[in-house]
Amino acid sequence: MHKHYYITTPIYYPSAKPHMGHAYSSIIADFFARFKRIDGYKVYFLTGTDEHGLKIQRAAKSKGIETLKFCDQISKTFKDLSKTLNLTNTDFIRTTEPRHKKSVQHLWNELVKNDDIYLSKYSGWYSVSDEAFYNEDEVEEIEGKKLSITSKSSVEWVDEESYFFRLSKWEKPLLDFYKKNPDFISPEPRKNEVINFVKSGLKDLSVSRKSLSWGIKVPNNKDHVIYVWLDALTNYISALNYPNNDDNLFKKFWPASIHLIGKDILRFHAVYWPAFLLAANIELPKKVYGHGWILSGDEKMSKSKGNILDPIKIIKEYGIDPLRYYLIKEVSFGNDGNISQERLEDCINSDLANNFGNLCQRVTAFTIKNCQSKVPIKIKFNKDDLDILDKYKNSLEEIRIKIDNQNINFYIDYIVNSLFEANKYFNDQEPWKKKDDLLRLNTIIFTSLEIIRKISFLLYPIIPDSSLKALKIFNLKEKDINLTSIGKNDFLTKGNNINKINILFNKIEKKND
Ligand code: MSP
Repeated sequence: MHKHYYITTPIYYPSAKPHMGHAYSSIIADFFARFKRIDGYKVYFLTGTDEHGLKIQRAAKSKGIETLKFCDQISKTFKDLSKTLNLTNTDFIRTTEPRHKKSVQHLWNELVKNDDIYLSKYSGWYSVSDEAFYNEDEVEEIEGKKLSITSKSSVEWVDEESYFFRLSKWEKPLLDFYKKNPDFISPEPRKNEVINFVKSGLKDLSVSRKSLSWGIKVPNNKDHVIYVWLDALTNYISALNYPNNDDNLFKKFWPASIHLIGKDILRFHAVYWPAFLLAANIELPKKVYGHGWILSGDEKMSKSKGNILDPIKIIKEYGIDPLRYYLIKEVSFGNDGNISQERLEDCINSDLANNFGNLCQRVTAFTIKNCQSKVPIKIKFNKDDLDILDKYKNSLEEIRIKIDNQNINFYIDYIVNSLFEANKYFNDQEPWKKKDDLLRLNTIIFTSLEIIRKISFLLYPIIPDSSLKALKIFNLKEKDINLTSIGKNDFLTKGNNINKINILFNKIEKKND
């Protein structure tokens, strides 16, 4: 029986072109998806676009384009970006698709059936940019403008008939759930924020808008459209064809293993979403992880602040793998991270070109010259060889646990250390001085080749293309990569050919050198 893993990214607003913050969420999700796949899981990896609501309607209007056409155009740039980022998403959902609409309306009816929705009137603040309602104490006035204190986006006054979800009723069940499932919200500091918010008292939530047409209609009342967050969150189950289970997708993959999101949308995912699910008698996801922001200077990178680093431009200049590596390594996962082109170049030169690329080149060149381009056949490991090789087997279980706790920082440190040790091993063992002791020379080469193979497997979730290029040394393909085999010291077939490969990473001439 296969183990299943379901990972989701937030679905992005196609109000403007994607930026580095979006690329970040997606790359991290892809890292987990690939890791789990090479560890034998059947993975469902979902991403997509969140296309309803006032924000999108206004963005389309300001460009003078019909709303759906506008969504088609920008959603396509997100879909194209998935390819450019080399994502292995299983599905790309758009909330304007009929499959999604069906699920949302079904969920709505379930909430009505269970008496969790009632008609009343909403009077209060609304931020179109966040698509969020704010209480009076969450709003401040700066230079005559009303702003949300947390997001700094402007809010407007809304006074209209609205359906409400009985969120208040779920306050206690939510707190019980957090207690019973201490890993549900990660990382830890975010969990405390959410719990404090819920403890401070939940008010019923407005879940429909009357003054808006761009959305999914409330069943049985065409004057209202469903609140865009209730609509958007449902994507996580509509993609699995909820409530239909003919293809077993929902049964196999729900509850989600992890919803990966940015910390700014934690409340929606860790409070509203579980409350909707509880009310509809649907199991809750196993985890919601709120990652930090990519900063530009000290500010969150965002369209409205105009401080966007364009991922496409960076990829054109440096390639996708360096960007993936850089974001995964330099933005300490869970925290905010500042990124700069200079640091990216340092990463390419030191880690990728010097430590990984060079190791591959040196060892293959030596093997081609001194071992007839073959994986050595006669070998005899000594303690030095076994020390370095066995480390992988001994850390396999720890790596799995760390990844299940989203400890990407551990994973990348592990790789950086492994590369350091591998280079040190090759230098210290000095195979070039062992030409009169062929058994030793062959053993050092075999060990070095095995280490390159193991590290390339581990690098696959981070820099998939480069890892596959490196594995061409051994004629290994994507289907050959599996995590368990990093514990093996004799995975390579003795006597097999060793191939020369192209340079993996070109060094960057630093502009200020
Ligand atoms: N449409 C909603 C999500 C609905 S999920 C059911 C939304 N979209 S968004 O396009 O504004 O943001 C999508 C994700 O990108 C969020 O997780 C957000 O945190 C993330 N990022 C946006 N800017 C970011 C940075 N500068 N840095 C890192 N991630 C940030 O919210």
